[in-house]
Amino acid sequence: MRRTLIAAALALACGPLLAAESAWITVGDDAWRLIAAEAADARLLSSREVAVDVPAVRGSAALVRAVDRVHAVEIDADWLPRLSVRVHEALRRCGGFVRHDSPAEALAELHRLQGRVEAALAPSYAIDDAAEVNASLPLTQDSRILATIQRLSDFQNRLYDSSHGVAASDWLAGEWRGIVAGRSWMKVSQVRHFGWPQKSVKLVIQGSGPNAAETVVLGAHLDSTAGSGSSEVRAPGADDDASGVAALTEVVRVFAERNYRPQRTIELIAYAAEEAGLRGSQQIAKRYQRAGKPVVGVLQLDMTAFQGDATDLWIFTDYTNAAQNQFVADLAAAYLPLLGVGYDRCGYGCSDHASWTGRGFAASFPFEASFAHSNHAIHTANDTTATFGNQALHALKFTQLALAYAVELGSD
Ligand code: BES
Ligand code: ZN
Repeated sequence: MRRTLIAAALALACGPLLAAESAWITVGDDAWRLIAAEAADARLLSSREVAVDVPAVRGSAALVRAVDRVHAVEIDADWLPRLSVRVHEALRRCGGFVRHDSPAEALAELHRLQGRVEAALAPSYAIDDAAEVNASLPLTQDSRILATIQRLSDFQNRLYDSSHGVAASDWLAGEWRGIVAGRSWMKVSQVRHFGWPQKSVKLVIQGSGPNAAETVVLGAHLDSTAGSGSSEVRAPGADDDASGVAALTEVVRVFAERNYRPQRTIELIAYAAEEAGLRGSQQIAKRYQRAGKPVVGVLQLDMTAFQGDATDLWIFTDYTNAAQNQFVADLAAAYLPLLGVGYDRCGYGCSDHASWTGRGFAASFPFEASFAHSNHAIHTANDTTATFGNQALHALKFTQLALAYAVELGSD
């Protein structure tokens, strides 16, 4: 009895220490230097040099090879929210760490990034479905995109580990189910994750051709974040990334309206837990790779509503696939000829496309602005529709690009 009491008292006193949970992350060089200087317990597991393509000058399509140093690090999980804040303060950008489920997976990611040449599957990028694309594009409506952004922003937050984040996932699944109701080849499900309660939301549009096993993935992230990340914090995440989820939702609506049946299978995924280190997309890309699922292409929409430059669409060249990026630029030239296309880089694996790239799939990331001129209100309570003038005309361009991408890659 006495011993149990002592043990209980010790456990209470040492509770936070005993509870300290390790996390395994991969980070770029500048963030690692900051960790090494400030997080006494952090341990470097391994480092690698990774080749990335970057624009020779910002905006230009001409690419040069650069080398990023990437590190696998073991760190106390409690330190991660601080890491985001410190990187933001010291490096004037967002946190930029990818969180893995085990040390082995962090090391495997380094290995894969280093070994990456081009994606395993290289589909035809022929643009030859003008009839379907041209019939669909005029059906997209910016007012509907804005309404979805507003609805998602109305949640107190969409944190991956809060009840609000769970509720947002349930709401989106219900919304997509309502849109596709009565179409047997379109199925909505919620994807459970290991380690947190928010589920990803997935719509599968079953392919009808001989290549129906081949899958095209369009994604955006459902979760939001701000400041401390406490479960009641206000984090509307209107641009980051309700704007991407709303673009996907409008694509779903138009597909349903047209009773569209692709040849390949198309999946639209609203990922959970992107802000926590790409955790939702890491688990999904890992499951697909392990299952040997033939994913022929991935498009990520993360921040589409805030126009920071005169040039409309910015294709990010690092942690993405060069051949598919060319296809995305060609789609814009063919179907959205009035829009300007520029090229830039994030400088780190900044969104869910990096999870797919890390697993050997071809991913692209068309973005709202150059990196420097993107929306500075993200990750604050001010990431609301007001920041982009309560309109969704910029997001509409990305919706149309995504629709053209899905139809053209969904058909071959
Ligand atoms: N939407 C951002 C990424 C972003 C921000 C791209 C600014 C371009 C300009 C994304 O939601 C995000 O915040 N990503 C994290 C990194 C991720 C690995 C957790 C970030 O940038 O800190
Ligand atoms: Zn973000």
